[in-house]
Amino acid sequence: MISVEYKVQGPVAVICFSNPPVNVLSHAMRAEIHAALDRAEADAAVRAIILAGTENAFSGGADIKEMGTPKASAFPTLHDMIARLDEMKKPVIAAMSGFSVGGGPILGLGCHYRLARKGTRISFPEIDIGRVATPGTQLLPRLVGVDYSIELLVGGRFVSPERARQMGLIDEVIDGDVVEGALKFAETLLASGKGVRRVRDMTVPPSDGKAEMDRKFPRGMKLPGLIIDCIQAATRMNLEEGMAYAHHIAQDVLKTTEHKAVAYATAAERIAAKIPDVPPDTPKRAIRSAAVLGAGTMGGGITMCFANAGIPVTVIEVKQEALDKGLAIIKRNYLATASKGRLTEADVNKRMALITGSLDRNSASTADIIVEAVYEDLDLKCEIFKALDAIAKPGAILASNTSGLDIDKMAAGTKRPEDVIGAHFFSPANVMRLLEVVRGAKTSKEVIATVMDLAKKLGKVPVLSRVCDAFICNRMMKPVRSQNNVMLEEGASPKQIDDALLAFGMAMGPYRAADNSGIDVGWRGRQSRKKAGLPFVADDLVDGLCEQGRWGWKTGKGWYRYEPDGRGGFSRTALPDPDVDAYLAAHRKKLGVQPRDISEQEIVDRYMFALANEGAKILEEGIAIRASDIDVTYLTGRGFPLHRGGPMFNADVVGLKNVVAAIERFKTYYQGELWQPSKLLLQLAAEGRSFKDYDATKK
Ligand code: NAI
Repeated sequence: MISVEYKVQGPVAVICFSNPPVNVLSHAMRAEIHAALDRAEADAAVRAIILAGTENAFSGGADIKEMGTPKASAFPTLHDMIARLDEMKKPVIAAMSGFSVGGGPILGLGCHYRLARKGTRISFPEIDIGRVATPGTQLLPRLVGVDYSIELLVGGRFVSPERARQMGLIDEVIDGDVVEGALKFAETLLASGKGVRRVRDMTVPPSDGKAEMDRKFPRGMKLPGLIIDCIQAATRMNLEEGMAYAHHIAQDVLKTTEHKAVAYATAAERIAAKIPDVPPDTPKRAIRSAAVLGAGTMGGGITMCFANAGIPVTVIEVKQEALDKGLAIIKRNYLATASKGRLTEADVNKRMALITGSLDRNSASTADIIVEAVYEDLDLKCEIFKALDAIAKPGAILASNTSGLDIDKMAAGTKRPEDVIGAHFFSPANVMRLLEVVRGAKTSKEVIATVMDLAKKLGKVPVLSRVCDAFICNRMMKPVRSQNNVMLEEGASPKQIDDALLAFGMAMGPYRAADNSGIDVGWRGRQSRKKAGLPFVADDLVDGLCEQGRWGWKTGKGWYRYEPDGRGGFSRTALPDPDVDAYLAAHRKKLGVQPRDISEQEIVDRYMFALANEGAKILEEGIAIRASDIDVTYLTGRGFPLHRGGPMFNADVVGLKNVVAAIERFKTYYQGELWQPSKLLLQLAAEGRSFKDYDATKK
């Protein structure tokens, strides 16, 4: 129910609008505010006007439900609201509190003064739905300059009122009730004789270089550049010209695949939280404390995630040395963040104070959740789950961070398989947003709901997977890795493959990435399995390279070579190495393969379709709920380029018929038997359908 309250206090009209839960600016709401502004302008007793939302939200912006409907473009649009504010003869003060997002702060830009209560969350996130915020691109530069406009409109992140005040976006930060504060502000304003102050009349201030924008976009993504172009137009055009220019670009953007991909990716994150048989009202357990087993690479990062969320956490190791090392790395990570100004010393101390180190497994007995992050060894993990079952308090959640081992086997050794779940963080755990939540055959709905909810509290994006070897994200990489190596055997070079994927928009090519993480890891794994008489998949190509001491960047040579950096290490610049070319040539000769030229398009297609094909198998087996969940894992866990929407979305863009035709062609190539098309993919292609259609049938 919307309501717009109009009251006059002394010489000030206070217009308070309410449209729970986040005060979206629906058509009806805009019309009522517009009418209230007319009334205030006509009211002889009124000399200034305050525009306020509710305590929880100034406004969450446009009404998504009205997007693309006639209501979105019906008078008064947000544009008309700004024009109305421009015509006002009495000063209008925006009093923001709670949440002020998108159209919210843009409405504020139409006002003559802007105040925000402490703690208000302000942002212009249109970029995250693949859009250009037309009025923002023209008004913001006039108020805060080009640099801060880029930070706000391209960064798209929340800014605090204090930072917004520093930028000049906010005139005053109010401590306490924002309407009370605005009334005082109005009193001073009227006493000073200052009247309307229209943003449209301001001239764009010179660049000051103070913006903070650490957001990186994939190569080839056009939207950030287009937004910057619109912002820069404000420096040379008047408001009408600038608005027309930005409007034109904004409309063109809506027709692009990039727009659809970005909007899809943002929506997909929200949809991933929906689990058909675990409704939102499923009871959840309170997580007030945590324990993490293992203070290694992952355990340390997971411990930080809990501390960052304010949850006390005990990290448990087997040896003092490993514990000390793990805690020291955590401290070092926090100090590194503090040195960049992103944490205060007090924050670091507060987070460190939430972390307790222990060598005694029993100290996990009081935790609400225990996350196991010890070596990737099923026997060890099963033994640990059995031990945890004996010490954990009733109702505690027992989670494993395994990269792909069988959660059901771990659960089977406990008397409470319903409390066992996978919580697969991605490395570095304190940075990567993805959390694969792995549902075992007996995991209870309550436990699933609790961990999905906890993930959000830890700042993660949860995606539910069922148990299978390597779960969703890692499983899909397996056929891709073999395709890459087969392409090397057929004639491609590591650099050709990396460059093709970089041009597609990937953050890093697979061979640079392999050099960075160390190619000896897999080789050692195969050696130890061989020694122990365990099954393993041979990889002669990689093993041969490792046998030459080419273990990647850390040894100065791997798939590339790296010059010494003069400090005992190696430069990060990857240089193609003729020795690798010679090694590959010899390897091909041994296999009897006549090398051929492989085009950039073929490299990208083989990589992308191997992903989509395995993704389709994951869908048909019911491991992932929907194709968009699979895309979320790649976007948030593997640096898949946002403007490509994810491997499944990309396959839809190519057209599943074309994907199948390409796979049929690849089957005739060297090692073509590796291509086993998914039944679901074949079926959807034959029916002229897409993964998106398939998702829609599961709503
Ligand atoms: P790591 O070798 O860095 O750390 C494992 C730690 O566990 C060591 O510090 C070790 O002392 C400790 N540990 C061994 N037995 C223990 C016990 N009984 N009680 C307490 N601590 C014990 O290994 P990492 O990389 O952190 O991997 C841990 C788990 O996370 C594995 O299951 C792995 O598959 C998974 N994982 C690893 C990722 C990665 O990129 N490294 C990504 C996602 C999951």
